[in-house]
Amino acid sequence: MDKTIIITGGAGFIGSHVVRRFVTKYPGYRIINLDALTYAGNLENLRDIENAPNYFFEKANILNTDDLERVFTLYQPDGIIHLAAESHVDRSILSPLDFVYTNVIGTVNLLNAAKQYWKDDSSGKRFYHISTDEVYGALGKTGFFTESTAYSPNSPYSASKASSDHFVRAYGETYHLPVIITNCSNNYGPNHFPEKLIPLFINNIITQKPLPVYGDGLYTRDWLYVKDHAAAIDLVFHEGKEHETYNIGGFNEWRNIDLVKLLCKLMDEKLGNVHGASEKLITYVKDRPGHDRRYAIDAAKINKELGWKPSVTFEEGLKLTIDWYFENKEWLTHVTSGEYQQYYNEQYTTR
Ligand code: NAD
Ligand code: TYD
Repeated sequence: MDKTIIITGGAGFIGSHVVRRFVTKYPGYRIINLDALTYAGNLENLRDIENAPNYFFEKANILNTDDLERVFTLYQPDGIIHLAAESHVDRSILSPLDFVYTNVIGTVNLLNAAKQYWKDDSSGKRFYHISTDEVYGALGKTGFFTESTAYSPNSPYSASKASSDHFVRAYGETYHLPVIITNCSNNYGPNHFPEKLIPLFINNIITQKPLPVYGDGLYTRDWLYVKDHAAAIDLVFHEGKEHETYNIGGFNEWRNIDLVKLLCKLMDEKLGNVHGASEKLITYVKDRPGHDRRYAIDAAKINKELGWKPSVTFEEGLKLTIDWYFENKEWLTHVTSGEYQQYYNEQYTTR
């Protein structure tokens, strides 16, 4: 059956891959990209599909309830896939309240809009909230986050995402809203804003700037190629069970310093540098406060129940990512002008 789906945050990194996948794979669906176009939202991410007949863009803010009422009334959605958020831990340390507004209050506004709009009949509807593994806090040397791990957020970002997850769950229980949540590990890939580790370091190697490794560099993350996350979101949206939570991860743990060295090697190959040239840019800098030591996802549930698994290895995904940045230097120049410079100076000049 054809559907009308509002995807919030569709102009951002992960959202743009989800929008593209749904617009091209389901020509019978109407896909509405609802995005406020903050510093992280970029319509250049969607140039290739912006004229598709089933794609609609609405510049709207989830903090503005009039905006939400207008878009819901205009399109009458059957589904919401909610990705709009403030998403960067370092920015959350600089200005936590922005994260409370967008991630907590914005999510509750969206829940209220869906509740109001579907009040007479929510059968066949779906409110799908995209969240992060960071809500679970930090792991020691061993163990994994499962769907039953207790929430223990350590950064303002993860605290705001944890809070939004709780509200989504509560609206499912209290108002029987047909909700579903996924918690995913660190994504990487094309269109990633160069304030996060991998695209920042690709950009800094291209521009020959220092590679600022926080603390001892032994922090561990579980990395997933963004298109594999988009495939998981497609699967969960269609096949996931209402009121359930699924963890999504890459089965792919890397210590930051090992990842950075692999990235340097691949960049040297791409640039035709002698081996070791990019590694010379590695600079250890002051640690991030409240830095979570290790994240690792147990993705057995989504694998067993829905048959999802990642499609590319980390080295394949990194090569695809590097190739994309080299083919899209103009994109990189556009997003690193203006406000980015101000953020970069504030974040790195005193470290
Ligand atoms: P992003 O920062 O690249 O994009 C966020 C998008 O939301 C932007 O297009 C921005 O314009 C939009 N937005 C922000 N505030 C808004 C508002 N008030 N109203 C409407 N739109 C607004 O983020 P991302 O990395 O693509 O992450 C998307 C979602 O996935 C987030 O909810 C994030 O918590 C979650 N997530 C991200 C990762 C990751 O590694 N990036 C991992 C797991 C989960
Ligand atoms: P990041 O990409 O910000 O994702 P998250 O904090 O959500 O996991 O950071 C990934 C890891 O890389 C994290 O351990 C912090 C570290 N990091 C650095 O060492 N230097 C940097 O400049 C950045 C942005 C991150």
